[in-house]
Amino acid sequence: MQWRNSQGGYGAAAQIVHWFSVLLVGVAWTLGTVGEDLPRGGARELGEQIHVSAGELIAILLIIRIGWRLIDPPPPPEPTPLGSLGDVAARIVHLALYALLAAVVAFGVATQFADGDSLSLLGIADIASPWIKDKSFAHDMKEIHEALANGLIILAMIHAGSALVHHFVFRDRTLSRMAPRFSKSG
Ligand code: HEM
Ligand code: HEM
Repeated sequence: MQWRNSQGGYGAAAQIVHWFSVLLVGVAWTLGTVGEDLPRGGARELGEQIHVSAGELIAILLIIRIGWRLIDPPPPPEPTPLGSLGDVAARIVHLALYALLAAVVAFGVATQFADGDSLSLLGIADIASPWIKDKSFAHDMKEIHEALANGLIILAMIHAGSALVHHFVFRDRTLSRMAPRFSKSG
């Protein structure tokens, strides 16, 4: 298994972080969206715990990914008929995805603290809220958290759609070099 990126594609480290983050975003967004429909009590509390833990794992992976990216830069983009305009657009989308991941988590934490609630760190430890409960501030933080989370999902869908266009229309290796099979064959 090749851990580092190469000129030809993403190594296992970048791929694992990418696909595990995708899974966690799916879990966090689904539980955030349907969480209030869960029956009050144990089920809802478990849903909230998983929601917050998924967000915390996303933050940990984000820090690992950004650090790893500095010592192991991504492979150059595959050439497409769109030329450098397409490459710049893809870079902006990647940057925006990173920024949105960080912002969603930050406003999630702010929502929790503004509610006066402590933040459970992966169910292992608790950080008490440094703020006094403020209902209207908490409501604003939650609205922003939700809007950013929905924005993240929309942008991720555009991003995934572009990966599919690369694969099926341009017929290049953009998607396959982010797919696990690459590290075995390459
Ligand atoms: C440490 C990370 C996170 C924390 C502490 C957090 C915290 C919260 C809190 C306290 C709520 C309000 C629950 C309620 O009172 O009803 C919430 C709702 C929500 N969260 Fe998160 N969250 C985090 C990460 C995420 C992530 C990564 C996503 C999505 C990618 C996300 C998406 C949502 C959504 C869609 C809602 C529903 C908003 C609504 O309809 O009211 N959260 N979150
Ligand atoms: C929540 C969902 C997603 C997020 C947050 C996300 C985020 C990212 C980020 C930040 C990068 C840049 C990696 C780097 O070089 O540092 C990337 C690359 C990539 N992603 Fe995603 N992604 C998501 C979902 C998907 C899905 C569903 C697909 C496939 C259908 C996909 C396919 C790719 C591919 C092929 C690349 C490499 C692009 C290139 O070589 O320029 N992603 N993704």
